[in-house]
Amino acid sequence: MALRCFMRNLSILPKRMLRPNNVNCRIFSTTSPLTNKKQIEVTFLKADGERLKVKANVGDTLLDVVVNNNVDLEGFGACEGTLTCSTCHLIFTQKDYDQLPDKPTDEELDMLDLAYELSDTSRLGCQIILSESMEGLEVKVPASIHDVRAE
Ligand code: FES
Repeated sequence: MALRCFMRNLSILPKRMLRPNNVNCRIFSTTSPLTNKKQIEVTFLKADGERLKVKANVGDTLLDVVVNNNVDLEGFGACEGTLTCSTCHLIFTQKDYDQLPDKPTDEELDMLDLAYELSDTSRLGCQIILSESMEGLEVKVPASIHDVRAE
């Protein structure tokens, strides 16, 4: 139906191919409107003390948040979330770390072992999916990144 509506509006088609105006055309979408996405506030604390506060969609990863908000973190997320770089290393407070719903997988732990400034509360941002309960999350960004693929 949508295709017919689209074609009806093409002025390059011959008149006989155009549908009459009484065709029931409806605009529909299979996804939820963007306005229905719940958002929370996330802050990235850079090593130089700069605080980057952004709005983030629930259901996105912290890597998505950085990309979608153009957060200025040099080299962050180089492998685009394929668990092969460790450039998305972030450090959580102990409280926030303990409340994360999922524990790191063996693959994430292997990548974390190669990250600089590793701590007991380190995680990879591409593996952290935001939930509403993470409102106000603050994560520390290490001073330097280590792209494992560059070796
Ligand atoms: S973006 Fe590369 S490991 Fe997360």
